[in-house]
Amino acid sequence: MALLFISAVEDPEVWRAEFARALPGDEFRVWPEVGNRSDVEFLLVWRPPPGSMKGFPNLKAILNMGAGVDYVLGDPDLPRDVPLTRLVDRGLREGMVEFVVHAVLHFHRNFHRYRAQQAAKAWIDIPQILPGARRVGILGFGQLGQAAAQVLVALGFPVAGWSRTRKQFPGVESFAGPGELAKFLARTDILVTLAPLTRETEGIVNAANLAQLPRRAYLVNAGRGGLAVEEDILAALATGQLAGAWLDVFRREPLPPESPFWTHPNVIVTPHNAAVTQPGPSALDLADNIRAIRAGLVPNGLVDKAREY
Ligand code: NAP
Ligand code: GLV
Repeated sequence: MALLFISAVEDPEVWRAEFARALPGDEFRVWPEVGNRSDVEFLLVWRPPPGSMKGFPNLKAILNMGAGVDYVLGDPDLPRDVPLTRLVDRGLREGMVEFVVHAVLHFHRNFHRYRAQQAAKAWIDIPQILPGARRVGILGFGQLGQAAAQVLVALGFPVAGWSRTRKQFPGVESFAGPGELAKFLARTDILVTLAPLTRETEGIVNAANLAQLPRRAYLVNAGRGGLAVEEDILAALATGQLAGAWLDVFRREPLPPESPFWTHPNVIVTPHNAAVTQPGPSALDLADNIRAIRAGLVPNGLVDKAREY
């Protein structure tokens, strides 16, 4: 039986080599060379071209090679009766922890201001506050948010998480559901967005919600560009409601050259690489999921299509 790799952005040969080790015995095919469609049991996908996932009569599951499944669920031709999994893996977690902790420390220790001061050859010591006085809020408190929170808590930051369901997580104040969003934002000096992009979260970083943050808060968007209303971020930066933003994800990627974010003095842009899938460890996790599905077990990261994550 065959695995079909569908991605216009990932290098299939790297993955072929990893799967030869992780799942020897399964044929590895690369879209659009699909061969006999009846042989294909599993699709390994990352940003699959629209329509590429349909027409496989013996499909057992679709395995997304990243955490966010918005690209997959957005395809009207997605076979909805087949299980879909998202990537839950150590490589992504470790990458995201580094990114979030770095971004929080960057703003907390005013490194963005020292950079500007250096350009002006200005030797000015900015007063420091301790982490205990800088409240971090993680909007989307799942696998990645919790991993980042663990390190931020250890560093002494007061951390809160906002999720759909209430969490018990050591050292973290849990806020749940739309009714607790305003309270969560009001206690958040650095907002880290790590929610999946769904109908419910689309545009959640908007003028009304940014206005709930304390004045001169910071934003770190590591989730998806669609979580934010980009004009509202710019407006909040202009009024000083936001003192700075680190944006890793955007509504249009690659970020077009005319975007004002590129040159904004209080914005840091990174090219959607807060956490990247590492083929080595991820192929092992994906192979485990394939074995689990073949054995009739529930795979890791099974997506609830109604919830959209
Ligand atoms: P996850 O484990 O599914 O966590 C998602 C969190 O968001 C959960 O806490 C969930 O609440 C919460 N959530 C979802 N919808 C909500 C709603 N309507 N209201 C309140 N909370 C809601 O996902 P993850 O693995 O941490 O990944 C999070 C996202 O990060 C991905 O979807 C992807 O978009 C993004 N990402 C970005 C990069 C990058 O390089 N920039 C890399 C990897 C991932 P419950 O816990 O109550 O369900
Ligand atoms: C990356 O953006 C992912 O969703 O894994």
